[in-house]
Amino acid sequence: MAVPRYLGILFSYGADSRWELEGQVESHAAGGVGGVMRIDDVVGSVRRGIRAMEGYVPGKQLSGGTYIKLNTNENPYPPSPRVLEALRQAVGAELRLYSDPMALRLRETAAELYGCEVDEVIAGNGSDDILTIIFRTFLGAGDVLVTPAPSYTLYKPLSALQDATFKEIPMGPGYTLPEDLDAHGAKVVIIVNPNAPTGVLHPRATLRAFLERTQSVVVIDEAYADFAGEHVIDMLKEFPNLIVVRTFSKAYALAGMRLGLGFARCEVMAEMMKVKDSYNLDSLAIVAGCAALQDQEWLQEIVGMIVRTRTWVQQELEGMGLYVPPSCGNFVFPTIPDGRAAEVFEALEKRRILARYFRGPLVKDSLRISIGTDAEMETCLQALRESLTQG
Ligand SMILES: Cc1ncc(COP(=O)(O)O)c(C=O)c1O
Repeated sequence: MAVPRYLGILFSYGADSRWELEGQVESHAAGGVGGVMRIDDVVGSVRRGIRAMEGYVPGKQLSGGTYIKLNTNENPYPPSPRVLEALRQAVGAELRLYSDPMALRLRETAAELYGCEVDEVIAGNGSDDILTIIFRTFLGAGDVLVTPAPSYTLYKPLSALQDATFKEIPMGPGYTLPEDLDAHGAKVVIIVNPNAPTGVLHPRATLRAFLERTQSVVVIDEAYADFAGEHVIDMLKEFPNLIVVRTFSKAYALAGMRLGLGFARCEVMAEMMKVKDSYNLDSLAIVAGCAALQDQEWLQEIVGMIVRTRTWVQQELEGMGLYVPPSCGNFVFPTIPDGRAAEVFEALEKRRILARYFRGPLVKDSLRISIGTDAEMETCLQALRESLTQG
């Protein structure tokens, strides 16, 4: 039976304390016949774009068990002891109070570290929150979001949520930035740098050249920049269309805390601030974020260990005859020959080693393997060797 419709009237409480008529909207309803609404009608009321889209599928997260977990680019080392101490101090009766909606201390600490204005910084509940804020701020129905492919798989569902048009432009040879990236009518171009899942770094000069010619808003997702030793936050001064996104989930070893940062010019940030949830960071996350940024020594130490392990793993994989794009992240992305990537992924899982396998046409022949401890990687390399020779 067709869902009956009627013209409802939406009221809202105005800033001047009077009930105001906002306008007439078309809404689904059970036809005004009374009774409890049917589940089909409720689901039928969901926005068409949401029903049509596929939700984001995060990497597997396990509770307990004895897996070697190399599937979501977490840090194998713990967060700074200063973070843990600050958290212990912060757990108490004060949690009854709301957190600072502007996360001012964290933004000030970040501004000092990166040499920018506090009003150029936004803090978020993970960098996924920052990405959501950016998509909501800039993209409406029909606006075009362009990303070089392959890249972070969250961008597609975030575009769908905005009814925006998502366009992937295949990377050039060696996973370099596509030359025609600015030829697709993008309102927003988003580039992961170093790229995920490949690990390849687009040098600052390449990004600068792109920023000099493009008329799009350019988002650089620097989730893995701490492992690369270079970033573009300083370029905000030159390019008003630049937005940079950072996470604490990788190099700072705080994936479970959900912390991210965004950087943009003050005028842009003022708009983004309107879009965020009011209390998007909890008090403990703010405390943890400040302590983490203040302990750069710890960061450098654990990043150094991961980079050393990555260099060794890359060489070992190449020694097995595999192509591995040069990684500047905390993961590697070897190509598995003979169309056997899915099979090898499963063989690893049977040995309780979790890697990440993506099914898309540009990525289906590779596995993304996070860099764990030396011992974890030794086990993983051995399992890979065996799986490859058992073919
Ligand atoms: C490129 C990229 N951006 C953003 C994120 C999200 O990180 P967060 O944990 O801060 O939400 C990830 C997570 O894997 C990522 O790979």
